[in-house]
Amino acid sequence: MELSNKKNVEHQNSQFLEAWVEQFRPYAKEGNCANYIPALELKNPNELAISIIGSDGIEMKAGDTTNTFTLQSVSKVVAFISACMDRGMSYVLERVDVEPTGDTYNSIVRLESHEPGKPFNPMINAGAITVSSMISGNSSQEKLDTIIKLLEKMVGKKLIVNEEVYKSEWETANRNRAIAYFLMDSGYLDCEVEEALEVYLKQCAIEVDVSDLAMIGLVIGNDGYHPILKKQLFSKEVAKLTKALMVTCGMYNFSGKFAAFIGLPAKSGVSGAILAAVPSHASVHSPFPTGCGIGIYGPAIDEIGNSVAGVPLLKHIATEWNMNIF
Ligand code: DON
Repeated sequence: MELSNKKNVEHQNSQFLEAWVEQFRPYAKEGNCANYIPALELKNPNELAISIIGSDGIEMKAGDTTNTFTLQSVSKVVAFISACMDRGMSYVLERVDVEPTGDTYNSIVRLESHEPGKPFNPMINAGAITVSSMISGNSSQEKLDTIIKLLEKMVGKKLIVNEEVYKSEWETANRNRAIAYFLMDSGYLDCEVEEALEVYLKQCAIEVDVSDLAMIGLVIGNDGYHPILKKQLFSKEVAKLTKALMVTCGMYNFSGKFAAFIGLPAKSGVSGAILAAVPSHASVHSPFPTGCGIGIYGPAIDEIGNSVAGVPLLKHIATEWNMNIF
């Protein structure tokens, strides 16, 4: 394609993206900001932003892209990768299963009903707390630093923990504390309860923007290879397992419908964040033919925990631009 022609197409595509954000912004009315974490309730529910970054480093973004927000459950993906790099995949899989539950993300019920109490997958709270506990380090800070270091390599900048969000969640984390004590009792915690909770809740409170999410998705979609740094950050095997977990468990008890009707490895968080990893084979007929990462932020969420404007926006883009792994 001639250069000017290519620029015209890029311009047209970013205009589509702007229009789609405005089309789906009103969907925010159908949800609310997470109110069980006081600091998240104060966010503006009408915000909506998206970034898509291709393997060539070209970024297309639209909406309220300067806003920052916390990773929340999206951090479960990076902590899982970190634990696999750190402890080896087979050790991690001895401690956490890879089965979807169909239950809410913070459910406790299966820990007792299924012997021996091994958490079902790393994308629900029980599995994520086990994963955070097994990351090496002699303190919660050392464990957290391991996760943050990997994240910083992916996004190419320094990241911080939002202390206000962390504190407000720490004070209200009764259910997570109950899950952690249960895991400890059944032998699925590799450190003390309070240490594991501190790592887990701090990783949830890492502050990012939509471009950061898109970069994380880009690296995962590229099987652990960072196409801009031209460096393999983690193994292909770990990336493939992570993508499979994102497809089967990444959108909580909406994962089945998300796989059926959108068809991308993705992970959501109660902050309204969605991360999607689009491998090259799933995007050949899109404006990002060699794969891309997608980051979305829309803080109004549904009762499951997914962004009410973000999910239909992603569905629309995936349909219009033929992005689907199946
Ligand atoms: O464990 C919690 O409650 C949160 N810090 C993370 C939950 C989350 O994002 C689940 N979301 N959809």
